[in-house]
Amino acid sequence: MSEKYTPGYSSNTINFMAYRTLDSHAGFFKPYLYPGMKLLDIGCGPGTITMGLAKIVAPGTVTGIDKEASQIRIAAENAVTQDIKNTNFLEANIYALPFLDNSFDAIFSHALFEHLQSPALALEELWRVLKPGGTIGLRSPDWGGFLITPTTPQLDQAIAYLKWILQQNSGNPYVGRELSGLLRQAGFTNIKASASYQCNESLSSVTEYLALIIEAFAKVDQVVQNNWATEESITAMSRALRQLSQHPDGWFASAWCEAVGQKGQTEAKVGNEVVL
Ligand SMILES: C[S@@+](CC[C@H](N)C(=O)[O-])C[C@H]1O[C@@H](n2cnc3c(N)ncnc32)[C@H](O)[C@@H]1O
Repeated sequence: MSEKYTPGYSSNTINFMAYRTLDSHAGFFKPYLYPGMKLLDIGCGPGTITMGLAKIVAPGTVTGIDKEASQIRIAAENAVTQDIKNTNFLEANIYALPFLDNSFDAIFSHALFEHLQSPALALEELWRVLKPGGTIGLRSPDWGGFLITPTTPQLDQAIAYLKWILQQNSGNPYVGRELSGLLRQAGFTNIKASASYQCNESLSSVTEYLALIIEAFAKVDQVVQNNWATEESITAMSRALRQLSQHPDGWFASAWCEAVGQKGQTEAKVGNEVVL
C-alpha cells in the first residue's frame, strides 16, 4: 500500500491535534455513549478526544489505537497526567486490528478517513471487531469546504496544492461528504449524517500546520521535478498561508462531516434511550 500520513508528526502538528476535545470536535458522538461501554478510538493521535470519551464511558474502557508509536506514547502519558485510568493505548493499523471479532460496543474515529487509501477495507475490519448492534461514528474534514478571507492567487494555489498532496499520499480530500455512503456500502444501517464548520482554531496554528505540509512534501517528494510547482511557488504558497494569519481580518473555517451507523438491523442505543 502506498498510503502515507500527510501531516507527519512534527511538534507543531501534534500540538495542532492536541487542543481538540470531545466537546470541541466530537459532540456529535456523545449521545451514543453510555457508562460501562467498551469503546475503540481509531487513529487516536495524542489522545485528547480519547480522554473525553473515557470520562463518559467510565467504568467502561476506551482503547485508543494508532499506527504511530510516538502518538501512543503521548496519549498514554496524557492519560497518566490527567489521572484517567480506563484507557489503554496500542500501536496498530486500522487494516489489521489485534482484536477478536465482536469486541466493542462502539467505534469512533476522528480525522483519519481522509488519510486512508482504502476506507472500504478499513470498514470491513471495523465491522469485524464491532459487536452486532454496536455503533460506529466517523468524523473527517472535507477540503472542498474551506472558507478563507482575504484570498490571493497564491492562497488559492496553496489550497489546490494541499488537496493534490493528500491525493498523492493516497488520501481523499473530499472524504467528509462520502462518510455516510461509505458506512452504507460497508453494511451499516440507521445512518445519521451531519456537518458543521469549525472556525475556533487559532488562525496561526492552522496556517502554520498547512504551510509545513507544503514544505515537507516539497522536500520529501521533490515535487518541483513533477512540474506541479516551482521552488518559488512553494515559497509563495507557504508565505501566503502565514501572511493570512497576520492579517487583521484573516478568517479560516473548515467543513467537518460526521456519520454514525449501526452494525446490523438492531436498534441503536442513544444514551439511556433506545431509538429506531
Ligand atoms: C489527524 S490525526 C487525528 C488524531 C485524533 N483522532 C484527533 O483528531 O485529534 C490521525 C491519526 O491517525 C493515525 N493513522 C493514520 N493512518 C492510520 C492507519 N492506517 N491506522 C491507524 N492509525 C492511523 C495517524 O498516525 C494520526 O495519529
